[in-house]
Amino acid sequence: MTTQAYIDANRERYLEELFQLLRIPSISTASEHDDDTHQCAVMVQEYLVRAGLDKAALYPTDGHPIIYAEKIIDESLPTVLVYGHYDVQPADPLDEWNSEPFEPTIKKTEIHPDGAIFGRGTTDDKGQMFLHVKAVEAMIQTDSLPCNVKFMIEGEEEIGSPNLEPFIKKHKAMLKSDVILISDTSLLSKEVPSITVGLRGLAYMDVSVKTARADMHSGLFGGAVANPINTLAKMIAQLKDEDNRITIPGFYDDVHFPSDRDREMMRNAPFDEQEYMDSPGVYGLEGQSGFHTYERTGILPTLDCNGIWGGFTGEGSKTVIPAKASAKISMRLVSKQDWHKIADLFTEHFKSLAPDHAKVTVTPHHGGNPYVTPTDTPEYRAAAEAMKDAFGVEPVPMYEGGSIPIVAKFKEVLEVETILMGFGFDTDGLHSPNEHFGLWNYYKGIETVPAFYRHYVGLKAGV
Ligand code: BES
Ligand code: MN
Ligand code: MN
Repeated sequence: MTTQAYIDANRERYLEELFQLLRIPSISTASEHDDDTHQCAVMVQEYLVRAGLDKAALYPTDGHPIIYAEKIIDESLPTVLVYGHYDVQPADPLDEWNSEPFEPTIKKTEIHPDGAIFGRGTTDDKGQMFLHVKAVEAMIQTDSLPCNVKFMIEGEEEIGSPNLEPFIKKHKAMLKSDVILISDTSLLSKEVPSITVGLRGLAYMDVSVKTARADMHSGLFGGAVANPINTLAKMIAQLKDEDNRITIPGFYDDVHFPSDRDREMMRNAPFDEQEYMDSPGVYGLEGQSGFHTYERTGILPTLDCNGIWGGFTGEGSKTVIPAKASAKISMRLVSKQDWHKIADLFTEHFKSLAPDHAKVTVTPHHGGNPYVTPTDTPEYRAAAEAMKDAFGVEPVPMYEGGSIPIVAKFKEVLEVETILMGFGFDTDGLHSPNEHFGLWNYYKGIETVPAFYRHYVGLKAGV
């Protein structure tokens, strides 16, 4: 039986098994779901065993377990290391879901006329991770796996992978590989496939401004003392200029833009701005002057306030001048920006914006460096050929706005490059209510992966 015939014969089961994974609320940030998250890891391990992989095991960490499995057919052949995550974001706000977030439901949409699976984690990343398990199963069961494969699936990606870096440092030999393959990014469209060649980094900061020991009567003190909410708002507002350029001195020092040719290619990519706006229903676009929307999310860094609080926010009113205000501010990083360096530049500049009578604290929360995939390699070529086989056209290299902070660490620690071959769409509602993953996308992914292995082995042998 051919690999594709096996996939076709097992279509229904492949979907039912994914549903089993989707039913488990493996929300890594919520400790009340720790048992669920663990149960989900066990299920991934079991599916890897059933797919025909060896040594499938759960590695406990200080947080959620990491699953490792491998199939070594010949030490002299190349090894592909597949990475993915089984943890998901919280499902809230729950009342905005049209179906239960942890009861996968198939519905048709305009973009997914063949139907899409709705549920938390469908596209990010259970559906995309599992398509590799199913593709490798099809290759093993039809004796057509052309090289070695290893799986490393973690349960803490959505909380910044705090335990993965020590794990990869400790298990360098076990993780030895020639390429890392990940499906946890987006595809441009059904007609025009893309391979992600840029991921942004992240520097996430907690800040607070304190101006007094205690809250005060706003009649007795208002007008004569600083209000920390106003102070904080003013400080945040100064972090960007009229053109939406970030004002932190030195912030752009390590930002290098792609070549004019690559920028031209990105500009011509069939990016549907209206569709992009419609999926969250934004009222208009705003960003740094002189850049196209796709460049604003792909090749430019950002600075955004993710939350802000202070003072009285309860029912009714309270005439008070608060003593303290706080915010969470994150920066997406690109190119050669280093998150520790950016965190330091931010801290120094932010503190300098405060008046003397305000006490400012800045604490870095977590972060990661950006990553750019080299395209002049057999692994990139293999991915492009596989996409070409499955979609009929050459894929477009795309810089994406999201982050997978561990990818830069893979390069640094394991010294291996990563191929980001995503099969979801930006409009699939990742981290949002009604997240979904197209059935077409799921099966297209399962079909494309074996083509990658085939081309990769061929190209490596030819080198
Ligand atoms: N899969 C996403 C990242 C992504 C999505 C990249 C689409 C490119 C296109 C990942 O699960 C994610 O959400 N990452 C977080 C990282 C953070 C929690 C450290 C992000 O980007 O916010
Ligand atoms: Mn993800
Ligand atoms: Mn995510």
